[in-house]
Amino acid sequence: MTTPLLLRAIAGEPVPHPPVWFMRQAGRSLPEYRKLREGVAMLDSCMRADLIIEITLQPVRRHGVDAAIFFSDIVLPLKAIGVDLDIVPGVGPVIAAPVRSATELDQLRALEPVDVEFVTEAVQGLVGELGETPLIGFAGAPFTLASYLVEGGPSKDHARTKALMNADPDLWHSLLTRLGAISAAFLRVQVEAGARAVQLFDSWAGVLSATDYVQFVQPHSARVLDAVADLGVPRIHFGVGTGELLRLMGEAGAEVVGVDWRTPLDEATRRIGPGRAVQGNLDPALLFAPTAVVERAAAEVVEAGRAAPGHVFNLGHGVLPDTDPDALTRLVDFVHSRTAPA
Ligand code: CP3
Repeated sequence: MTTPLLLRAIAGEPVPHPPVWFMRQAGRSLPEYRKLREGVAMLDSCMRADLIIEITLQPVRRHGVDAAIFFSDIVLPLKAIGVDLDIVPGVGPVIAAPVRSATELDQLRALEPVDVEFVTEAVQGLVGELGETPLIGFAGAPFTLASYLVEGGPSKDHARTKALMNADPDLWHSLLTRLGAISAAFLRVQVEAGARAVQLFDSWAGVLSATDYVQFVQPHSARVLDAVADLGVPRIHFGVGTGELLRLMGEAGAEVVGVDWRTPLDEATRRIGPGRAVQGNLDPALLFAPTAVVERAAAEVVEAGRAAPGHVFNLGHGVLPDTDPDALTRLVDFVHSRTAPA
């Protein structure tokens, strides 16, 4: 069996063209997803192995992407240990008892593999169905999970979260220690069942100053990444608006740093330093422009990515729900046509 393109690119081996997959490739942009989800709540769909398998496979079949991303959500492990939460359509995760004091930490017991048996079952089923296409497992990073728990739901300014970390560092570190252990356990379950790479989503880390990031976040993310290092799969570390944090996110221990659309990949590579691949970073909004515009921008992304030791083509954040799925398929074909210069 040959090594998948994704893993070769991450390892810095020569590849004919960059591998490509999309964050949120499974989801509302696909009519077949909307049909399958009719009458099924988001979190319920994440707890049924048959639905997880089918939804994860949908974008692979349709677009011919070079990786599958496990269908779940960053709050699923919290749900699985009994945290009272829901994913509200059009809003996002909403927490019944937000963390405001040490009392609420009791909600956060350790995650055991038996809590997520449907994940093991789904990953094992997927690996059989996917053949040579690698499955990427994922988890939310401690900071992004903490932001939902502390704010009680999505937030623009993350004010309570930033206030808590600075005002009560002991409580903050206890919270992130518990969340880190949960994320690490969730990643281990996926890799032990057959996932061949993992992505740690610290989606909202970009709201932090580098000083706060180093003090309050980086050690916890590093511990999660370190906790799966022995499994031998590459680790991708991604956040939005992290231009000022790229080096620090790489130093947390990832083989690949995910970059949003704000920083060109050659500049991102300079900031990250040697020895790490990059992932990204076409602006997901550009998929609403004519094909020629998308292709010009995608060609620039591929070109800038050649500055890095390895490049995995992706969007700078997730697929927007109203995206035309055909635009995604065309983009995959276009990236696959960008053969490296001899
Ligand atoms: O294809 C994939 O990327 C795999 C599936 C996936 C989902 N969520 C499915 C989902 C992944 C990797 C996630 C991670 C996730 N969830 C993140 C990190 C990635 C990122 O986008 O930065 C975050 C911050 C969340 C929290 C969350 N869950 C939000 C903000 C929302 C959107 C709420 C809405 O309705 O607009 C969700 C719900 C969610 N997770 C949906 C999907 C497909 C949409 C709900 C639906 O289809 O009914």
